[in-house]
Amino acid sequence: MARVAIVTGGTRGIGEAISVALNGAGYRVAANYCGNDDRARAFTEKTGIAAYKWDVADFDACVAGVAQVAAELGPVAVIVNNAGITRDATMKKMSRAGWDEVVDTNLGGCFNMCKAAWDGMLERGFGRIVNSGSINGQAGQYGQVNYAAAKSGIHGFTKALSQEGAPKGITVNAIAPGYIDTDMVAAVPPNVLEKIVARIPVGRLGRAEEIARGVLFLVADEAGFVTGSTVSINGGQHMY
Ligand code: CAA
Repeated sequence: MARVAIVTGGTRGIGEAISVALNGAGYRVAANYCGNDDRARAFTEKTGIAAYKWDVADFDACVAGVAQVAAELGPVAVIVNNAGITRDATMKKMSRAGWDEVVDTNLGGCFNMCKAAWDGMLERGFGRIVNSGSINGQAGQYGQVNYAAAKSGIHGFTKALSQEGAPKGITVNAIAPGYIDTDMVAAVPPNVLEKIVARIPVGRLGRAEEIARGVLFLVADEAGFVTGSTVSINGGQHMY
């Protein structure tokens, strides 16, 4: 039977590419989203993939969302924690709210989704979790203490949880995208982005499909010996 996969933030950007790739590889995909109903509707019309709305920063909503997907599509075998937001600002200008929103969504959301799916994965003796870190969690980035802290936390979270999952058939890995051609990166001021792209040895922004390729590798049944690792896909910008 086809395995069921949830992709958070799965209707736009990198998440959309991951949802489409998993669907193409035969998974039954639930694409979670939080805010943009129009984009989610367009995504489902285009791809035929079901979209489910909840906020990953809300623990109870994650528990209910995972239960709903399990009831409608089947037991959840794969979680891709891709949902993420930015509230970039220098320390001088960053508000406490801008810190909380990013940490609660990017890192708290990862805990919430893993916790909601974990017991089922343990019972079935199988699971594949892929958490989206970032080059900016590995290397830091001016104007992103909130985002870098949350993404760096993802890498520690992944290494810790992978140790709990390893003897139970559950792998937990991270993907660390560099600068990818998405709405999030398009929000970086052009003069700043120009300097960043100049430092990417491949000489361009990445494509969302290039991140999805790494996720497909990590979730495969055959990848059972890959756990606690980070797949960096950044055009050579940061070699970690
Ligand atoms: N390194 C060093 N100095 C920098 C700098 C940098 N990268 N960026 C800006 N500065 C300096 C400026 O030169 C300026 O210096 P002076 O005051 O001496 O002239 C000072 O910082 C203030 O610059 P700004 O006027 O631009 O400050 P701002 O408050 O308007 O904006 C910012 C600051 C919000 C951080 C803006 O620079 C920015 O958006 N940077 C992009 C951050 C970024 O890369 N975000 C990634 C988003 S994509 C993503 O996160 C996905 C992923 O995983 C990769």
